[in-house]
Amino acid sequence: MLPPTLHVSQHPAVLHKLGILRDEKTEPKKFREVVRELSWLLGYEALADARVRAREVKTPLETMHGHELGERIGLIPILRAGLGMVDAMLELMPTAEVWHLGLFRDERTLKPVEYYNKLPDAASVDLCLILDPMLATGGSATAAIEVLKRWGAVTPVRIKLVNLIAAPEGVEAVAKAHPDVEIHCAALDRQLNDKGYIMPGLGDAGDRQFGTGKAS
Ligand code: PRP
Ligand code: URA
Repeated sequence: MLPPTLHVSQHPAVLHKLGILRDEKTEPKKFREVVRELSWLLGYEALADARVRAREVKTPLETMHGHELGERIGLIPILRAGLGMVDAMLELMPTAEVWHLGLFRDERTLKPVEYYNKLPDAASVDLCLILDPMLATGGSATAAIEVLKRWGAVTPVRIKLVNLIAAPEGVEAVAKAHPDVEIHCAALDRQLNDKGYIMPGLGDAGDRQFGTGKAS
């Protein structure tokens, strides 16, 4: 059964762009462009319940009661594939801070290995958005959530995961270990293959963005 914390976008623009992203013929330049566009759309959906505060706005005609984002937001891109999601998120949330977290998945064990952490000293934030195109076994996402919670991102601080493609195995792992973390994704795929790749997926999101390796 799917957890209530999972949000899979049904937006036609998301579905359209996902088709381009998955296509093996899509070259890195276009791939990066579509990662960015999808990130914007998913970020928009993930922010739907963000708090706003009142702000007086003077239009050329009169003064009115407007709004501004009331959340202090931290963006946590998981290196390296999550890097491609940052610019779009910053467009949506210009005051967000960006804290890089380096994790790679050991190809043999499929376990995450942490190699870089640029979190600030204190968790002075309301909402953390973890950015990673792929949620496969859930090992990297779970490790990132644990790093954030150890650092101080605990209630009332909220953590959300923003992925482009998720596998049921990864969703289950995250929901079981962290039922308080919402997952926003563009697609929930069928399953993992025996190498831990998402099927049908899109191959290796890092390689496809940065032109390294082969597609799967
Ligand atoms: C990919 C992806 C996630 C992770 C997902 O990164 O970007 O971080 O795998 O797999 P998991 O859910 O099984 O942990 P990868 O380790 O390939 O590193 P890269 O971004 O440097 O290519
Ligand atoms: N990481 C990727 O980049 N792709 C997958 O399918 C699984 C993990």
